[in-house]
Order: sequence, then structure tokens, then C-alpha cells
Amino acid sequence: MRQAWEAPTIEDRTSGPARPTRDEIAAYHLFDEQRLVGGLIERAVYTEDERRRTADLARSLVLAARANQMKHGGIDAFMHEYGLSSEEGIILMCLAESLLRIPDKATADALISDKIGDGQWDRHFGASDSLFVNASTFGLMLTGRVVRLGAAEGSGPAGILKRLVARSGEPLIRRALRQAMKILADNFVLGRTIKEALARSRPLEAKGYRFSYDMLGEGARTHDDATRYFERYVAAFEAVGKAAGPLEQPHADAVMTRPGMSVKLSAIHPRFEPGKHERLAVELVPRVVELARLARRHNLCLTIDAEEQERLDVTLGIFAEVFLDPSLDGWNGLGIAVQAYGRRAIPVLRWLRRMAEFGGKKIPVRLVKGAYWDSEIKWAQERGFADYPVFTRKINTDVSYLACMRFLLSDAQAFYPQFATHNAHSIASAFTAAGNSPYEFQRLHGMGEALYDEVAGPGKLGRACRIYAPVGGHEDLLAYLVRRLLENGANTSFVNRLADETAPVAEIVRDPVSTAEHLRETGAPVAAVVAKPADVFGPERANSRGLAVNEPAVRREVCAGIAAELAQSFAAGPIVDGAATTGGDNAQLVICPHDRRQRIGTVRTATPEQVEAAITSADQAWHAWHRRGGAARAAIL
Ligand code: FAD
Ligand code: 2OP
Repeated sequence: MRQAWEAPTIEDRTSGPARPTRDEIAAYHLFDEQRLVGGLIERAVYTEDERRRTADLARSLVLAARANQMKHGGIDAFMHEYGLSSEEGIILMCLAESLLRIPDKATADALISDKIGDGQWDRHFGASDSLFVNASTFGLMLTGRVVRLGAAEGSGPAGILKRLVARSGEPLIRRALRQAMKILADNFVLGRTIKEALARSRPLEAKGYRFSYDMLGEGARTHDDATRYFERYVAAFEAVGKAAGPLEQPHADAVMTRPGMSVKLSAIHPRFEPGKHERLAVELVPRVVELARLARRHNLCLTIDAEEQERLDVTLGIFAEVFLDPSLDGWNGLGIAVQAYGRRAIPVLRWLRRMAEFGGKKIPVRLVKGAYWDSEIKWAQERGFADYPVFTRKINTDVSYLACMRFLLSDAQAFYPQFATHNAHSIASAFTAAGNSPYEFQRLHGMGEALYDEVAGPGKLGRACRIYAPVGGHEDLLAYLVRRLLENGANTSFVNRLADETAPVAEIVRDPVSTAEHLRETGAPVAAVVAKPADVFGPERANSRGLAVNEPAVRREVCAGIAAELAQSFAAGPIVDGAATTGGDNAQLVICPHDRRQRIGTVRTATPEQVEAAITSADQAWHAWHRRGGAARAAIL
């Protein structure tokens, strides 16, 4: 049975107008990128005066941020030096991903010696001006040498070093590396517990920053994990609510400027997946409603994070159910993140606007570019989709971000826009486009400090900025950490370009709309960087084709096709010597395996005489069949 929140065509819970449907969103799942970008450019276009003001502001933000960067610990410079374009960067990424979760020492040592020994660490030494980068490089250089020498046979310095390392009890290398990885991880986590995080947020709140706490966890594998993550949220709401105190000037929009929590639905249910609608309606929706009620009680806001594209429809379905829950009527605190890299971004915003009208309340929308790009590309290829659900060119995502930004700013009744980005050009565009409309910026804890000191600091641009602050232990950080490393390490990313002192300012703040317009005018393909999923094996062979059955619209079509086939009653029987037979009286009823109430038809199994006849016929045909050769046989088959 289909649930109300799954079906895009279902009527309102009671009577009255129909709920907004998600048909249009579904239609854009794999929409042609070239055509889509043309429309987005038109939505994102700025006047000449706006472009000039945006460019001036973006440039001054970059210059100030570069000047500020040394104050902020140099993690950006580290990520630039060890980006994903160098072998050493990839080695560090693998280590960060795995070292924190390897429990035993022997395996950790084996991994380190396997990975670290391969890098040419010395070529990074002195390549950056940052003391942090050079100190870390020195450590890695030393470690690399120790591993190489330690592995060598014989006496001399190598042997001495080997003995030294062995004698130090817990091997030095492992300790040093674990420490380095912890520093990297700590950079992105505000606190191990909500209490610690609240204490650390206080000085930043005094500077005017707001917070959204994310109790780390995602992709829960078991009911127990999901319950544990959920309970952490419940406890955190109490703690954050208590720390925030009562609302001073109660009005409907006040909640949007208060502290809040961000939640990934995949953390609080182990089967938060497409196709599990009935179960999620009963088990997950009540959990999210409970969190939203807690948020309401404490005058805090709650944002549902955006996860993988294949969970988009199920996320929107749950959002709708919670948003329209009668206990939350009149409450403007339930927000949602929207990914501009998704080809469905504008239809999602259109649907949200209709939801806001339908529910008679405002929706805080966190506009992000999207953190799962590499995975989305890989999954679409693995599944043999006709195209990608996300843009394949960075510039197209940037244009989409600006188009979505304009969309959000165009309706202050429906939306409270929250621009989450560390890109100076995106920030400057929002500042220029928004004028005096209410909105806020958002940054991740451990990123964008240098930039946002210019935006949110007293006497600067004076715009509100919220910090998304992960809270929890390293064991729950891995997936989040890997996304940050991929993002920071990619040489197309803004933070990476910012950290590269040799990258000209004009180039890193180039207006994406002008560039995309130029591409279009010159007739250059706007989407040719990544091969289509069908072509990933090049001329050698075509990729196998797959259907996006995780999308409800596709699933409905497939199910309708199956149902139509099943509606005809089959009478199957053995085929002997090319002729269908109706041998014997042994017809048996066939029942549908996934729905035992349905009869599919009948089947007659072969009689011993028919089996004999089939074998004789095959034996007689075999020589002629064999003589045709493989190619001819394949063509017939
Ligand atoms: P930029 O460097 O300008 O943009 C980098 C982004 O461009 C990449 O992340 C990717 O989205 C896109 N991109 C890179 N290469 C390509 C390519 N070849 N083709 C097309 N697009 C490409 N992300 C989520 O998914 N869900 C969330 O809920 C979420 N919450 C966030 C909350 C906050 C406060 C912030 C600051 C970010 C959040 N993010 C979230 C992460 C966000 O999606 C981006 O990954 C990150 O902010 C980088 O974007 P940028 O504008 O800062 O940087
Ligand atoms: C992520 O988890 C910040 O939600 C974003 O990558």
C-alpha cells in the first residue's frame, strides 16, 4: 500500500486543497544538463551594476581572507599542499579514513608502513609559507624515512633506527600519525559532547555567530545505532534549549535566529531508503516529529540535512509529513537543506514554496552546493543510468547555486534563506542580491573562518552567520571527515584555490554566469567533462543499462509494466524441437512470489517422453549448429 507522503497525487489528509505533488521534481531527475543550464543562466543573471559590486566585494573578501588565514591554524594551507592531485595527499586521505577506526596496533602499523613509505614527502617541505604545513611535512618526511629505513635489512643507521623504533614501546610512528590524524579530525568537531560544544560556542556567540549542532552519525546500520543517535539528539535539545534560555521577544520568525540542530535522517533510522515507505511512515516520521516538538518547546530550530540524491524523494516525503503535523502548526522552525548540484534543485524549491503556502508557514532553506558529488557520479555509472542526477561541471553547480539563491530571495513569505558556502563569490552574490531582505550565511566549523570574519565580524558586512557544528567522537566522524577532505583537497574547490597563493584573485572570483554564458555563446558543450554513464568503458564496450528504480516515478512505471504482464494469464509448457507442446495433464497453478494472493497462470512440466524427444532432437542438430562457428551462433542467439 502506498503511503500518503509517498504518493505525489494523493489528496490532503482531510479535505480541502490537494497537497503539492512531486511530479515535476521526478521529471528532472536525469534532465539534460545542457538544456537545464541555459534556463539556470537566465534565472541567475545579474545586472552589470550588480556584477561589478559582487566582483569588488568578492575580491576584497579574498584579499582579507588570505591576510587572515595564518591566524586560523593553517588547515586550509595544509589541505592545499596535500590536495587530491598529489600522491601524498591521497595517501593521507586513505590514512585519515582508516587509521581512526583500526582498533589493533599491528594492523595500524602495517597500514602505515604500507602507505607512508610510498610518498615523496620531502618535495612538499618548504613549498608552503605556512609553519603548520612545514611542521607537519617535516613529521611526515621523518616518518617516511623511518619506515623505509626500518624496512631495510642490515646494520648501520637503518638498523639502529629500527631498533630505536622497536624499543620505544608503542611505536613512535603510529603515535605520531594517530596524533596528526586526530588534529585533522579535531579541526572539524566542536566538541566530543554537547556540553563541551556549548562551552566552545560561547565566545563565538558573543561575536555574533549562531549555531546549528549536528550530533555526528549517519547511515545507521542497526536499530540500536539509530536509537542511540536519536537519543543523543533528544538529550542535546534539552541541553541547547537550556543554554539558549527563553525567547526574549516572541514573534513567529524569532525561532529562525535562535540556535538549532541539524539532523541526517539516515542517522535515526537504519532503513531510511527508497521503497521502505510504509515502515518509515510508522517508525521514522514519529521520531522526526518528536524532535521538532522538542525544538518548538525550546524555541530552537531544526534542519533536515540533504544526503544522497537517491534519498531526495523520501526525504521530501518525510519533511512534508512533519511540516504538516498539526502539533507544529504556526511554527516556522522546521528547515531543510537543498543541494544546488542536483538537477532537481529548482523544482524542489518550487515544491517547497507550494508547501509553505499550503502549510501557511515559512520554511528556512539551507542552500548548499552538495557534499556527495564524487559518490553520485560513481553510483550513476555503476547503475548504468541514462545520465547523472547532478551537474558534471563545477561551474554549472555555481550557476545553479545563484539561480536557487535568486529563487529563495524572491519569496520572503515562503522562505528564510540560509546561504551555506565558503566561496567568496557566492557570498558576495548573496550579499548583493539580498539587499535588506532577511537571510543568514552559514559555514562549517573548522572552515571558512578567515572569510567569515570579514562577513559576520563587528563593523564588517554585519551579516548573520550560523556555524554548523559537528558534535561527537572520532568513531562517528569518518564519513563527514572524508567529505571534508574530498572537498578541500579538490583543486576546483574554492577553499583550495584560496589557499594557493599563486592563484590570481581575478581567476578565483570569476563570475560563473559570465563564464557559462560565454561557453554557451561559443557553442562549447557545457557538460562534457565526465563521460555519460553509458560511455564510461569508452570504445571498448557499452556499459550495462540500469533503471533508477529508487525513484518512485520509475518504480511505479516498472510495477505497472509487471502488473500489465501479470494480468494476462500465462499457460506455459515445454518447447520441443521448436514447437510449443501441451504434453500431459500436469498443469500447475503459479502464484506470484511477492504477493501470494495473485495467480500468474499455469505451467506444464515436461513428460519423460518429451524430455527424450528434446534430447534426440538436440543431438541431431548439434553437428550443424557447431559447424556454424561462434560468430554465426552469437548472431542467431
Ligand atoms: P565551492 O568550492 O564553490 O564548491 C564546491 C562544490 O562544487 C562541491 O562541494 C560540489 O558540490 C560542487 N562541485 C565540485 N566539482 C563539481 C563538478 N565537477 N561538477 C559539478 N559540481 C561540482 N552538503 C550536503 O550535501 N548536505 C548538507 O546538508 C550540507 N550542509 C552544509 C551546511 C553548511 C553550513 C555548509 C557550509 C555546507 C554544507 N554542505 C552540505 C556542504 C556543501 O554542500 C558543499 O560541499 C561545501 O559547502 C562546498 O561548497 P562551497 O560553496 O563552499 O565551495
Ligand atoms: C555533510 O555532512 C555538512 O551535511 C554536510 O557533509
